[in-house]
Amino acid sequence: MHPLLPLCVFWLLPLALTLEEDSPLDCVPRRSVPYHRDNAHIFHEEGVFNYSTMLLREDLDLLLLGAREAVYALDLNDISKKLASVKWEVTQKQQDECTNKGKDSETHCKNYIRILHQMEDNKIYVCGTNAFDPECDYMSYKDGKLTLEKKAEDGKGKCPFDPFQRYASIMVENNLYSATSMNFLGSEPIVMRSSPISIRTEFKSSWLHEPTFVSMAQMPESDLSDMGDDDKVYLFFSETAVECDCYNKLVVSRVARVCKGDLGGQRTLQKKWTSFLKARMDCPVLESQLPYIIQDTYRLCDPQKNWKDCLFYAIFTPQSETSDLSAVCAYHVSDISKVFAEGKYKTPVPVATSFVKWVMYSGDVPVPRPGACIDNEARKAGINRTLDLPDRTLQFIKDRPLMDQAIQPIRGMPLLVRRGATFTRIIVNRVLAADGEKHDVMFIGTEEGTMLKAVNYDGEMFIIEEVQLFQPPESIKILKFSNVTGQIYAGSDYGAAQIPLATCGRSSSCMDCVLSRDPYCGWDKAVGKCVTLSSSQRKLIQSVKDADASLCPDADPMKPMNPKIWPGGNLKLHCSSPSNLAKTSWERDGRPLITSTRFQLLRDGLLILNATGSDTGRYRCISVELSKADKYTTTVADYQVSMAASGSGDGRGIIPQAQRDGPSVVGLQAVVGLLVVGLVALLAWNFYKGHIPLPWNCRKKNREPSQEGPNTDTTYQDALRSAPAEDKPLVSGTNNGRNNNHAGGEAAFSAAEENDDLKVNLPSLQYIDDESDI
Ligand SMILES: *[C@@H]1O[C@H](CO)[C@@H](O)[C@H](O)[C@H]1NC(C)=O
Ligand SMILES: *[C@@H]1O[C@H](CO)[C@@H](O)[C@H](O)[C@H]1NC(C)=O
Ligand SMILES: *[C@@H]1O[C@H](CO)[C@@H](O)[C@H](O)[C@H]1NC(C)=O
Repeated sequence: MHPLLPLCVFWLLPLALTLEEDSPLDCVPRRSVPYHRDNAHIFHEEGVFNYSTMLLREDLDLLLLGAREAVYALDLNDISKKLASVKWEVTQKQQDECTNKGKDSETHCKNYIRILHQMEDNKIYVCGTNAFDPECDYMSYKDGKLTLEKKAEDGKGKCPFDPFQRYASIMVENNLYSATSMNFLGSEPIVMRSSPISIRTEFKSSWLHEPTFVSMAQMPESDLSDMGDDDKVYLFFSETAVECDCYNKLVVSRVARVCKGDLGGQRTLQKKWTSFLKARMDCPVLESQLPYIIQDTYRLCDPQKNWKDCLFYAIFTPQSETSDLSAVCAYHVSDISKVFAEGKYKTPVPVATSFVKWVMYSGDVPVPRPGACIDNEARKAGINRTLDLPDRTLQFIKDRPLMDQAIQPIRGMPLLVRRGATFTRIIVNRVLAADGEKHDVMFIGTEEGTMLKAVNYDGEMFIIEEVQLFQPPESIKILKFSNVTGQIYAGSDYGAAQIPLATCGRSSSCMDCVLSRDPYCGWDKAVGKCVTLSSSQRKLIQSVKDADASLCPDADPMKPMNPKIWPGGNLKLHCSSPSNLAKTSWERDGRPLITSTRFQLLRDGLLILNATGSDTGRYRCISVELSKADKYTTTVADYQVSMAASGSGDGRGIIPQAQRDGPSVVGLQAVVGLLVVGLVALLAWNFYKGHIPLPWNCRKKNREPSQEGPNTDTTYQDALRSAPAEDKPLVSGTNNGRNNNHAGGEAAFSAAEENDDLKVNLPSLQYIDDESDI
């Protein structure tokens, strides 16, 4: 049995239990943190949108943020502080030309900043879409001011025309490597290095076929290379597969790479890459399903180690609408580089009429090896530059840039799979935990404006938390990490956010601190707080791999609160577990409380309706969390319910909101409000339990944990106070969105019973692998 089973819910293939181990895992975040302005420092400028380009200038303590028609210089330590800004707007003439070509004046014909890179002279290279006429410029920050030099460099091939098209770029030694489309229609893809002599891709579908560019990264492969190898630039993208014998279009994920020293060929491949090689990248989420599509990558290198130990983390989403899973796979750079350096090539073979099949090339491979960088061996043969490469080698690579072998992820499977909220961006931070081991913590932005924090502990997926960064929810378009400030920077259409790697204070008990399995956090017995490891000199309690909360000292017993009821009245007793993985239940006077028409068990509490004298007693809310090590039971809430003194009128019909302050007097409005909430809850509960049928099936929507999951007591109660109507415990039927992140939070409670009505749609498309013979 898989070690994940206890924590992450398996969505089994119906009738295919034998596939259990290959079936996708759907991991639920242990903690859901709703939006709160204290979650992050936020930057947003009135009337300005699309904050999707960032450059960290740690040397200047700046975050440069590119938006629509503007660039901002923000304080790297608190991005809500704007230090400078510069506008870069399109002229009326440019806008008119753009609209004359049929583009929309408000959405397309603006200048979207797409490139911000640091140059060797410390200036900043900046490019924008410029009303479908991309342009680049130089920018400097001096004396608290951002200035554009207005050089008006042509941005074709560097920056996209279309602000909605994806692109990738990187600056290496003052050379811009870019992957974008170089024409107005967006139909001419190019991967280019802008240097004194620009080098680009051949315009052939075997090189790039309707690509979507994702990201670029450089790799210092010349370091300590005994072959005299060159540094490389890697490109990640997806494209329509040329090698697929399928009836429908099939999109695959790719990694390509070029050598930094590539100068193109002399006759063949003049001013074109002689080292452009690409391979398919797999992230097998479910067997025999369409391949997943790469969306973003993060290069993780240990500064103390060789480049061969670097990893690429990548996120993937499905290409079919039938699935709403997202996944993370990780790859060893050495595995990728080995495929390019030693793997077989694919070659096109004409079959029948005008049809080409791609198969493994098994003939002789020319020397020097096609696509290889110039190395010692080539130099020995008198080939010092790619310009000296023989035509045979160049012709071979011109026709066969695709490797036969696909790149497989570490462990051969995803490190994380999650249903719902589509992953958009990822960064990864390696942290030394209290156990002396290093763990890679994944921070993943989603389309719903949340950020997941997840770890894979020896094959076990675990999502520590999901934090809502933007309200209204806005897709996360960029994520950056500064190892100087230790902060994460996220951008969306609405604004930018800055968050620390960890907010340990969200755990208020030792058990919660330990069960959160956050490698940044530990429980400090001396002060009774969950604190960051780096901030403490003391030995902290932490158990990230085993989640062993028995290391915790015994918690102080809770003091019961004393709400009152009156005959015929209603009372809500509050109880919210800090964990979505815990199950809560109630007991009265030591016996389990069974739900009935008068006792409604809600996600966040217990509702006693139409109370009678016999309802007094000691009510305890018990949370049971199954961790890897053990089952942990805690009392989350404790109430001594008594009868209100007759005639006092005190405490009538209140939800005991802040029991620590004792009951407060509320007006008639609150009573009415409560009754409405109660009625809605009752109705919803009945819908949910199926006592009253719904016209649509809502149970699916319940799979996700709630965004309004438990936070600290105060924030939760604040929310309750300010918006009692928001406290809809069971809104399952009302959420029609594709993603169910905001549906009621019964995930932890009902996941098991819902397993049976899940269907995994297997796509009918066949995805034919390459090694088949003709
Ligand atoms: C820019 O932001 C606006 C407002 O959120 C959004 O509607 C639009 O789609 C965004 N444009 C691009 C190119 O992302
Ligand atoms: C390559 O470089 C070596 C040493 O730098 C030089 O002796 C040789 O002539 C060069 N070969 C060519 C073809 O330029
Ligand atoms: C941050 O990362 C850069 C390169 O990624 C490295 O050179 C530098 O030493 C790191 N700084 C710290 C404080 O870790």
